[in-house]
Amino acid sequence: MRILLTGSSGWLGRFLAPLLRANGHSVTGLDVAPGADTDVIGSVADRALVDRVFAERGIEAVIHGGALHKPDIARYPAQAFIDVNVTGTLNLLEAAAKAGHDRFVFTSTTSLMISQAIRDEAGDAAVWLDEASGPLEPRNIYGVTKLAAEQLCRLAWLNDGLNCVVLRTSRFFPEEDDTHRALSGENMKANELLHRRLTAGDAARAHLLALEKAPEIGFDAFIVSAPTPFARSECAELKRDAPAVIARHFPDALELYHAKGWEFPRSIGRVYDAGRAERRLGFRCETGFAEVLDALRAGRPLPFAHDPAYISPKEDAAPA
Ligand SMILES: NC(=O)c1ccc[n+]([C@@H]2O[C@H](COP(=O)([O-])OP(=O)(O)OC[C@H]3O[C@@H](n4cnc5c(N)ncnc54)[C@H](O)[C@@H]3O)[C@@H](O)[C@H]2O)c1
Repeated sequence: MRILLTGSSGWLGRFLAPLLRANGHSVTGLDVAPGADTDVIGSVADRALVDRVFAERGIEAVIHGGALHKPDIARYPAQAFIDVNVTGTLNLLEAAAKAGHDRFVFTSTTSLMISQAIRDEAGDAAVWLDEASGPLEPRNIYGVTKLAAEQLCRLAWLNDGLNCVVLRTSRFFPEEDDTHRALSGENMKANELLHRRLTAGDAARAHLLALEKAPEIGFDAFIVSAPTPFARSECAELKRDAPAVIARHFPDALELYHAKGWEFPRSIGRVYDAGRAERRLGFRCETGFAEVLDALRAGRPLPFAHDPAYISPKEDAAPA
């Protein structure tokens, strides 16, 4: 198909554009910043530009990954989030419906499921999060605008019959966490693969599958994250003594961690359950915590990217 991929210069775009091409699709990349997979430089908030790209490129389906996201909260005003994440999504949905498309894939975020209370981890048990969790009370403008965009996707399906798959991905960024720096970046990422992270390669694969399956699905939103080894029944213990739970699931993990100078998380406050994506979309991440341990055992490179110097290309391109 002729796909419009927004955010093509970004971290996800770098994995997704080549994967789409390898699967026989022709990709038009649209991004505000230049990149190897970007053909059109411009904003999704520019409706005239979106219409022109659709017409000139004969676009047949959209994968909408371009966005202002969490690190941008410190860099942009709330209005910019509304313009890009809400108006931009509406522009693409309306153009897709007008062109008679039968599918649309939207990259959303698990972040919109995190209220201030969940974020504060004030309870005495980890919070188990799946698609039925709610009420959704996002704690920042990023989450609020992503939730609004998800709802626009639902309306496009309801009103225009545009099949939309929403992927609420957990973290896959390569840079350091912008708030927690207690452990080394690689150690943090390995820990997060237990309950709140996936690799960028897996995120790209989920988008390809969502594109293929959208006409069967209609509208739905899925959490996309590495499969957690934990069970709901372990939530209290995860909060109280996460190392004990991890050691029960992975008996040699502590030894492998010690050899690397890594530490387990002392407490885990939330777990994303990606089971529904597996059951309904048929998607399961290839890389999780077990694969990290396999790599440590075999002395192989870690199966995820860590790049403390990564910065969104639009910031790189911005004049100093
Ligand atoms: N990285 C993560 O951990 C993570 C987690 C959950 C969800 N997401 C979502 O995944 C998607 C991709 O994020 P990423 O990690 O690749 O980030 P990124 O910043 O590397 O890429 C996002 C891209 O979107 C582009 N963009 C920004 N404004 C735009 C506009 N107005 N028009 C067109 N393009 C625009 C940026 O220039 C950038 O290249 C985003 O929708 C983000 O919200 C990311």
